[in-house]
Amino acid sequence: MTEQKTPKLRSRAWFDNPDNIDMTSLYLERYLNFGLSLEELRSGKPIIGIAQSGSDLSPCNRHHLVLAERIREGIREMGGIALEFPVHPIQETGKRPTAGLDRNLSYLGLVEALYGYPLDGVVLTTGCDKTTPAMLMAAATVNIPAIALSVGPMLNGWHKGERTGSGTIVWKGRQMMAAGELDADGFIKLVASSAPSTGYCNTMGTATTMNSLAEALGMMLPGSAAIPAPYRDRQECAYHTGKRIVDMVREDLKPSDILTLDAFHNAIVVNAAIGGSTNAPIHLAALARHIGVDLPLKDWERLGHKIPLLVNLQPAGEYLGEDYYHAGGVPAVVAQLIGQGLIKESALTVNGKTMGDNCRDATIEDDKVIKTFDNPLVEEAGFLVLSGNLFDAAIMKTSVISKEFRDRYLSNPEDPDAFEGPAIVFDGPEDYHHRIDDPAMGITADTLMFMRGAGPIGYPGAAEVVNMRPPAYLITEGVSALPCIGDGRQSGTSGSPSILNASPEAAAMGGLALLRTGDRVRMDLKKGKVDVLISDEEMAARRAELEAAGGYKYPASQTPWQEIQRALVGQMDTGAILEGSEKYQRIAQTMGLP
Ligand code: FES
Ligand code: MG
Repeated sequence: MTEQKTPKLRSRAWFDNPDNIDMTSLYLERYLNFGLSLEELRSGKPIIGIAQSGSDLSPCNRHHLVLAERIREGIREMGGIALEFPVHPIQETGKRPTAGLDRNLSYLGLVEALYGYPLDGVVLTTGCDKTTPAMLMAAATVNIPAIALSVGPMLNGWHKGERTGSGTIVWKGRQMMAAGELDADGFIKLVASSAPSTGYCNTMGTATTMNSLAEALGMMLPGSAAIPAPYRDRQECAYHTGKRIVDMVREDLKPSDILTLDAFHNAIVVNAAIGGSTNAPIHLAALARHIGVDLPLKDWERLGHKIPLLVNLQPAGEYLGEDYYHAGGVPAVVAQLIGQGLIKESALTVNGKTMGDNCRDATIEDDKVIKTFDNPLVEEAGFLVLSGNLFDAAIMKTSVISKEFRDRYLSNPEDPDAFEGPAIVFDGPEDYHHRIDDPAMGITADTLMFMRGAGPIGYPGAAEVVNMRPPAYLITEGVSALPCIGDGRQSGTSGSPSILNASPEAAAMGGLALLRTGDRVRMDLKKGKVDVLISDEEMAARRAELEAAGGYKYPASQTPWQEIQRALVGQMDTGAILEGSEKYQRIAQTMGLP
């Protein structure tokens, strides 16, 4: 706190550069406008950005507008100067056509802000699904000291004495409507009950997942991911986060010191134990590429599949965000995994201590919500990574598979049984919604439902639409789920055992583009294979025919960014980043200052 004039501070190149007094004066005069004095700006105090993701357009992150005051006080307390600035909004439930489209846009904007302005360190105000990876990715690329602050989940939702979890209740409500148990007004009331306060989704959706993983990666103060947004502990955490970033600048503790291969391996293991979202492999692949860590998709199965599910949160379990926090949050989960030697304990974290030191002694405070390793909710609950002649890679979340399905198709390696049936193919979510309840489609309990045209190019950003409910007539007969496979994503709040994130997508002429309704498909989970049962010759003939017709058709771009992203974006198995952007690494260090 006493250290002044630290020569390393990059903000000095703006505010205290004797070699370029013209520009220094120009930089200084306008930043004085909001009340800072010349002495302060020239004093050598670390200048800390507060990357503000909250706004009226982003209700999940909006509470950061309040928390920023406490972050500021923490920064000032430690002798830093806070400069708050907006981050391009990404609201999962508000952005059309998909919030996924904006992750890379938000990333780009934040890279420019962090690189191009006089910032020595940054607080990343994370929360709603894509806001967390977008900000971590940008901090990784620029590589100035960075710490994430989760906005925290909403309070638990309640309806008629039962917990209603965000997102998860929508999937349930849709089934109830299809079965005639709920009308439209009742549906809206039921869904609204799941969102009782400020904060992000209270289920183990992508938001709780990505914030838990930010903590597991070491980028957030220990124990902080799960604190509910309205709790006073959340404000206190904001204050400590502000204090800590100033010291991180003085210690020169950067994302590249924290986001090591060990940190990513820890995150994969934690993701399985918490029952994390299928969006996590996409975002962690993207983050790994931006920091220069090699993280093949197969690592999710290799390191994660054998891990049991410990966290009893919806959609895989029954509880919600407040319960997760009271039960001990991420440290309690990590401690269980440390007990089995499954965590790389020496991985460094933002508080300057190791993951092992932070979490080793954490205890479970409610074993209904966080299970011990010896008594898990589900054994072997991590992802499977599948391949075949329809795609090179796809993910399946096994923690949500029903017991009957698991026993029959997954658990017994001696049993040759595999799911085989006719395919019904939908081209995008609109096609699905138009046709699903038409009895002429002939969908039965043996059908495999395919969704294509929903990947990063086809439905720009990739739509969360692979989890498809069966037709209403099957639901009334008691068939509540059918196997769903597709090149889109699935909401982390969905309990559907889908095979998703299929890469390459149909729009990139992956095998899914060649599939036709009525083809027989074999899904052999034990071998990790999904294949359409047609010959290679037939596949080649179909490919030639489709190419001659101009390739797989998808809707035209509606905005400039859609067109730019479609031209540059990679596939989901490698993070769906803007290809080429990963060559810009550690740019605050390697590319010099202006
Ligand atoms: Fe924002 Fe779920 S919609 S976290
Ligand atoms: Mg989502």
